[in-house]
Amino acid sequence: MHLAWHVTRKILLFVFLAIAVAVIVWWRNDRSEFNQQTSSSSQSAIQVKTTPTQTSFSKKQYSVNDPTSIWAVVNKGRVLPSDYIPANLTSPSIDLSDSSAADNMHLQASASAALEKLVTAAKADGLKLMLVSGYRSYATQSSVYSGYVSSSGQAFADSTSARAGHSEHQTGLAADLGALNGLCQLEKCFGDTPEGKWLATNAYKYGFIIRYQKNKTALTGYDYEPWHLRYVGGELAAEINKTDQTLEQFFDLPSYTGYPANGYQLKAGN
Ligand code: DAL
Ligand code: ZN
Repeated sequence: MHLAWHVTRKILLFVFLAIAVAVIVWWRNDRSEFNQQTSSSSQSAIQVKTTPTQTSFSKKQYSVNDPTSIWAVVNKGRVLPSDYIPANLTSPSIDLSDSSAADNMHLQASASAALEKLVTAAKADGLKLMLVSGYRSYATQSSVYSGYVSSSGQAFADSTSARAGHSEHQTGLAADLGALNGLCQLEKCFGDTPEGKWLATNAYKYGFIIRYQKNKTALTGYDYEPWHLRYVGGELAAEINKTDQTLEQFFDLPSYTGYPANGYQLKAGN
C-alpha cells in the first residue's frame, strides 16, 4: 500500500512537471509569434515613415524670360532679340533632311543630345525619324514667314509660321521632325502616321513637348503641328505631359492668338 502510494506520487509529480513544461513551451512560442508580429508591424511603420516624400516641382528652376534658358517661352506676345544666336549650336548625329553644314540642321547641344536619344529609341521601335528643321536665325525666320505670306496670304501665314523674333526655332530648342520616308512631312496627317503617334506618346521621355497641340490652337495661336517638338528638359516635359497644358498655361503666362502692339522682350539675364 505504502509502495503503491509512493509510485502514484512519482507519476503525479511527473505528469505535473510534464504539464508545466508544455505550458512554458506554449507560452514561449506564443510570445515569439507576438514579437515577430510587432517587430514586422513596426518595420512597416518605419517603411511608411522612410518612403521618400515626393519632391514638388519648382516652376522657378529656370527662367522663362531669358532667351538662353531651356524654359524660355517664346510666342506671339514674347519676342527674342533680333541678334540672339544660341551659343552652342551643333548638328545631331541622326538622319537629316539637308546637309549637316546647313544652319537649320543645328540645335542647342542639350537639345541635340536629347534628340539623338529620342531618334535611337524610335529606331529600336522600328520607326525612322529625321530632322527637317532645327535652328533658324532671325533672318531665316523672316524669309520663311514672308514666303508663306506671298504664297498663301497673311492670315494663313500667321496660323502656321511665326514672325521673325517670335519663333522657337531661333532658340535652337525647337525641332521639326519627319518620317524618313517623307510621308506627311510638315502636314497635319503626320500626327496619324506611326512616327507621329510615337512622338506624341514618347517625346516627353526625352525632354520634348509637342508644342502646338490639336486641342490648343485657340491658346497657342497656331494650327496643329504634330511635327514641332520643343526641348524643355525631362522634368518639365514630364510635368507638362501629366497636366496636358500649353507652356503658357503651365507657367501662368498670357496666351496670344495675335500679335500685341507691345510684346514682352526676352533678355539675357532676365
Ligand atoms: N511653325 C512655328 C510656329 C514657327 O514658325 O516657329
Ligand atoms: Zn517648327
